[in-house]
Amino acid sequence: MTPEELKPGISSVGAKDFDRRLFDSLIPLPDGTTYNAYVVRGSEKNALIDTVDPSKTSVLVENLEALGQKIDFVICNHAEQDHSGSLPVILGRYPKARIVTNEKCKALLIEHLDLKDERFDIVADGDTLSLGDRTLRFILLPWVHWPETMATYLEEDHILFSCDLLGSHLAQEELLVVDEGKNLTSAKRYYAEIMMPFRNLVKKNLDKLAPLTFDLIAPSHGPVYDHPDLILEAYRDWTSETVKNRVLLAYVSMHGSTRLMAEHLHTELSRRNIEVDLFDLAETDLSELAMAAVEAATIVLAAPTVLTQAHPAMVSAAYLINALKPKARFAALMGSYGWGGKAAEQLTGMLSGLKVTQLGSVFNKGIPKTQDYAAITELAQTIADRHREIGILA
Ligand code: FEO
Repeated sequence: MTPEELKPGISSVGAKDFDRRLFDSLIPLPDGTTYNAYVVRGSEKNALIDTVDPSKTSVLVENLEALGQKIDFVICNHAEQDHSGSLPVILGRYPKARIVTNEKCKALLIEHLDLKDERFDIVADGDTLSLGDRTLRFILLPWVHWPETMATYLEEDHILFSCDLLGSHLAQEELLVVDEGKNLTSAKRYYAEIMMPFRNLVKKNLDKLAPLTFDLIAPSHGPVYDHPDLILEAYRDWTSETVKNRVLLAYVSMHGSTRLMAEHLHTELSRRNIEVDLFDLAETDLSELAMAAVEAATIVLAAPTVLTQAHPAMVSAAYLINALKPKARFAALMGSYGWGGKAAEQLTGMLSGLKVTQLGSVFNKGIPKTQDYAAITELAQTIADRHREIGILA
């Protein structure tokens, strides 16, 4: 079967991975993912834009064979293996093809894939490559997702091949976005896990792309956007400084005490018209937690103590939240302990990468008692006051 076309002469040759359930052996993928690659045919030359994860090399090769066109250039927007991993096989099948990429990407590709220096043509920001009647322009977009990442813009057709940027972990039969709501959820999950740690740089790179016109945005993961404003507006929102009147409240409980505390805070926040995303870490999909962190104004972590330290499930969640660098403004801690411990100090230290104001902590020995519930009610009021101060709660 001939690969599907985005437009005449522009074919999608990548691979869908419906069965993949974890990315980086860490992030759950409820809807699988795709490794998109595209062939752009010009009147004189043809270019393959990115390759696919090595686990799907055979799909890429079959698609290229079905297309039956020579490949003169392989454009590498990003060196990470889910896009570059099939490059050695492709270079073997097209021995005259040149790898076109930037200097940093070249260095990484040589390190990761043990490629030969002589196959590369280096481009700088704004450089163009003529395929005859079509022109590729290269736009360096560092840190979306690695330092070498770039996008390729097809000038005559107004198509942005954005690689990781604006992507989504969503495998579906169709090439274009079908269900906008589902796609936005997948894109938000993807943004939370891949792009959020670089939020300010993502914003800067989006500003750099703003003067361009897009008919299509074709990322390297997930469906192609034929209404690009859908994803561009979502990114403007996610990367903005604005937070929502929401609390991410994550807890783990061993004997029920910390759960009682979390439930009481949930009730008190709801009574104050604050939305709460409540997660029991014993059951939570970490990608759901990451998504809630995209816009929450406040993060509250509640953990029991195990052997003087916070419960390992909370340590893992706190590590992830700290690494993802959400734009939350406030944080608080809660928990219970059997006989003693240092969970509060430990978790405070673990969130040191966040630019949050700490609103205090409530830790009690054993089951929460009247004074503990009162302290949690006071914490809910403090959170409400702070949300009101920054104008997100009436
Ligand atoms: Fe999809 Fe950063 O690789």
